[in-house]
Amino acid sequence: MNIVLFGPPGAGKGTQAKELSQKYDIPHISTGDILRANVREGTELGLKAKEYMDKGELVPDQVLIGLIKDRLEEPDCEKGYLLDGYPRTIPQADALEDILGEISKPLDVVINIDVSDEEVVKRISGRRTCSCGESYHVMFNPPEKEGLCNACGAQLYQRDDDSEDVVRQRLAVYNEKTKPLINYYEEKGLLVNVDGNGSVDKVFETISEIMDRYK
Ligand code: AP5
Ligand code: ZN
Repeated sequence: MNIVLFGPPGAGKGTQAKELSQKYDIPHISTGDILRANVREGTELGLKAKEYMDKGELVPDQVLIGLIKDRLEEPDCEKGYLLDGYPRTIPQADALEDILGEISKPLDVVINIDVSDEEVVKRISGRRTCSCGESYHVMFNPPEKEGLCNACGAQLYQRDDDSEDVVRQRLAVYNEKTKPLINYYEEKGLLVNVDGNGSVDKVFETISEIMDRYK
């Protein structure tokens, strides 16, 4: 199964992708997680990316295209992939098509998780993240022990780019640069819209029904 999970910041892409990756046994590839791991490790890529991420801007296309190409060529993608946070611009989508052509793994479907701006702000402001990649919400998806990750026990934190002004900027960038991909994939006959305003379980059920068609 070759899938893109698409949607605005805070739509629930990461939350859903983690569960779906387990259920369907395909790798979850989150460009945001890869970039944050690089920031934590202080790599050259991480240092460069952080400048953009902290402002809510996109990291330049050429950086992301190289990164996603390397990741998709890894052996675990033989069985498929679940992309989260890529592509985010038309040039990234065009490059993806070329890469997937080269590795003969064309997209099956692009699942657009549709969530209102108001809900995005609520979700992001309550999000708590763990360096292991898990994320929680203080109201909607609290950890078992307050402030600690269920998976690894580490202290949860708020992402640097989850402050209200940066979230507003991320939404503006989404509307300008990323949203046009909805038409792009609609024209290719690859887009399926999902109402993302329901509970985590409800959205998971709806996406699973779509993914079951491509098993
Ligand atoms: P990235 O990490 O991809 O951020 P994003 O797209 O803004 O998405 P988020 O991680 O904020 O949200 P999500 O949809 O995964 O929601 P989540 O499941 O956590 O990118 C960060 C930055 O990296 C970018 O700004 C950019 O600088 C750079 N970058 C990354 N990829 C790039 C690319 N391709 N090109 C250029 N730059 C790139 O859920 C949010 C919260 O809501 C959580 O607390 C969760 O518990 C809760 N929640 C989830 N679902 C529900 C539900 N159904 N009901 C109630 N609460 C819910
Ligand atoms: Zn953890």
